[in-house]
Amino acid sequence: MDKILLVISGGIAAYKSLELIRLFKKAGKQVKCIATESAMTFITSASVEYLSGNPLRTSLEDREQEMKMGHIELARWPDLILVAPATANIISSVANGLAADLAQTLLMATTKQIVFAPSMNVRMWENKLFQKNIDTLISNGFEFLGPTEGEMACGEFGMGRMMEPQQIFQSLFQSSNKC
Ligand SMILES: Cc1cc2nc3c(=O)[nH]c(=O)nc-3n(C[C@H](O)[C@H](O)[C@H](O)COP(=O)(O)O)c2cc1C
Repeated sequence: MDKILLVISGGIAAYKSLELIRLFKKAGKQVKCIATESAMTFITSASVEYLSGNPLRTSLEDREQEMKMGHIELARWPDLILVAPATANIISSVANGLAADLAQTLLMATTKQIVFAPSMNVRMWENKLFQKNIDTLISNGFEFLGPTEGEMACGEFGMGRMMEPQQIFQSLFQSSNKC
């Protein structure tokens, strides 16, 4: 797996996606990134682009890219798609077949392996409706790394922390640890 598409959604752990890009690049992987509108409140396009060496895409409203159906081209490009951090919103959107923005549309339009690294408040993670979405995705072949248990940015403790970048990297490339 040499070509990684990293989808960054709008969780507080979005800053950790920068470390993921660094780890992938250090391992010789090609990395392209897309970020949701919410994610862009947590990270800058400059840091993503300098680290990945590729332009960051954030919207379907990109004439130059979309005149050649850029989102379909990008959906075909990777060997693996990692959504990290994966918000409750993006996970639930994919589980329900939504295509409301660039990230969701691309995730609908790809046949490539998709791995989610969830990151959210423990109550969101434990929400019964949300857990049904997780079940739907697992039974349809989507993969999950984490979340893990621990202290959260909101001050609560429990399941919902994103796996650390190094652990994600190791699970993807150095073991068959995916759950
Ligand atoms: C400070 C802050 C932190 C947030 N952290 C998370 C989070 O860790 N996980 C999550 O699912 N949503 C989180 N949210 C809510 C999402 O940003 C929100 O649901 C958004 O619609 C997600 O959009 P996206 O999935 O398109 O990125 C947070 C919101 C704010 C303002």
